Amino acid sequence: MWINIYPDHISPYDSCRTLKESKADPAEVKVAVNLLKSLKKRLEEAQPQHTRLDAGFNKASFEDLMKRRFFYGLSNDIYGGVAGLYDLGPMGCALQANLLAQWRRHFVLEEQMLEVEATIMTPEPVLKASGHVDRFTDLMCQDTVTGENYRADHLLEAVLEKLIEAKDTPSELREKARTTIPLVDGLSGDKENLWRVMQEFDVRSPTGNPLSEPVDFNLMFSTSIGPSGNVKGFLRPETAQGIFTNFKRLYEFNNKRLPMAVAQIGKAFRNEIAPRSGLLRVREFTMAEVEHFIDPNDKSHKKFSLVKDVQMNLYAAADQEHARKPTVTTIGEAVASGMVANETIGYYMARIQLFLVSVGMKADRVRFRQHLSTEMAHYATDCWDAECFTSYGWIECVGCADRSAYDLTCHSKATGTELQAQEDIIPPVVKTVTEAVPNKQLVGKAFRKEAKFVNDALAALDSESAAAMGSALETSGKFTLKGTDANDYDITPEMVSVETKEKKFTVRNYTPSVVEPSFGIGTFYPILFIDCNCKQCG
Ligand code: GLY
Repeated sequence: MWINIYPDHISPYDSCRTLKESKADPAEVKVAVNLLKSLKKRLEEAQPQHTRLDAGFNKASFEDLMKRRFFYGLSNDIYGGVAGLYDLGPMGCALQANLLAQWRRHFVLEEQMLEVEATIMTPEPVLKASGHVDRFTDLMCQDTVTGENYRADHLLEAVLEKLIEAKDTPSELREKARTTIPLVDGLSGDKENLWRVMQEFDVRSPTGNPLSEPVDFNLMFSTSIGPSGNVKGFLRPETAQGIFTNFKRLYEFNNKRLPMAVAQIGKAFRNEIAPRSGLLRVREFTMAEVEHFIDPNDKSHKKFSLVKDVQMNLYAAADQEHARKPTVTTIGEAVASGMVANETIGYYMARIQLFLVSVGMKADRVRFRQHLSTEMAHYATDCWDAECFTSYGWIECVGCADRSAYDLTCHSKATGTELQAQEDIIPPVVKTVTEAVPNKQLVGKAFRKEAKFVNDALAALDSESAAAMGSALETSGKFTLKGTDANDYDITPEMVSVETKEKKFTVRNYTPSVVEPSFGIGTFYPILFIDCNCKQCG
């Protein structure tokens, strides 16, 4: 990403040349040459591009430069600051504004997405239903002497890196470390195995003290909403939930048409255990996310042919597990061979790659790494991370996940709101179905306030289950029904009539699947600046 550090009115190259050609006063020429030299020096400092990376780029002095030029700085540092919380300065804001403008052009405008802005403050039931309250965790170990907390997988990774780099590591141990390091991401969600491997490599705290076994640590910041403090909430850990909870409105806004892609840019918050690596892992950050809703029976993408020839560097889960190399291939071939599951996820992976190149990253320093099953987020069935190679190593900067129907199903169950799409069946089909029709008066009398859970459960029974219920009522005179509140209810034959009849179906209801490209915008600032390959930077 090119940032012009010259004031608009100065054209130093031109003014030097003109002065020399016009045989101007040597003192005037000297002033112009000195200005040019100082501007070149500033330019060199402000452009620590891939050439620097190739020539042993110094990360520490680069970060120092970014701070000195106030691209960013530790928030509230005059009070000591808090790790993982940063402020962007004027240059950082300019960079972010450019980046987000390009993101909007590339995704929202070119793909005709709907954009929303939902609240950050999220009531607990939303994130309970989405699984974040119970499962949005990292594994944490404690130094048993100092009480300091650490992210368990990071400690293991650091020990493995040290073993690989140290000259005196026995060759067998070095080889073991080398084959283990690609598996660390997979171990990050697998408590028992992570602890076993940590013990195998005698992982200790950075000060050499023994560690406690890893425990789950929830990454959300909790808060209470309102003066009574009774409404518990969280700062959102992802922007995505604000799209899912608005699905009904968005679907209607889109004239009930799918596919439908919805975008959102905004802040998200994660209480990282031990933030490190400058802007790469922070506690408050800007996300740019897309939720693309599709029919689960048809994951084709109408624009896939436009990207099918995009070359990708793909590191499939099976290749990581067997320590094989990534595959360089086109996205068209990857989808055809089944390496990438479907056209929609493939389309977005290619569009992500094109976006990364459009903002200055080099295509040969981008790879897509598929998550191992043990590292997948709780909502995902498949996920490919776009990673960029920098002096920090391979850095995840975009995730592209298949969230299936997970979120809409959870929110629908939790609220009783129908979060489904409809497709006209043309021509209509006639089927023989069995239904359990409640006698609402008797059900109401028997179950009072809970009657709704019984009626809804009866309405949701498929043909087979309704028939099974009918037989049970006939033979034993009772049936235990699981209500929509997950409680058991004793049903007697008078409460329902089980009927088999011909029914005409004109509409198919289904819960859409979701493919989600998710960008952590903050990770781009250092990466872009290091790996820039735009015209001005060469
Ligand atoms: N929405 C993707 C993520 O939370 O990482």
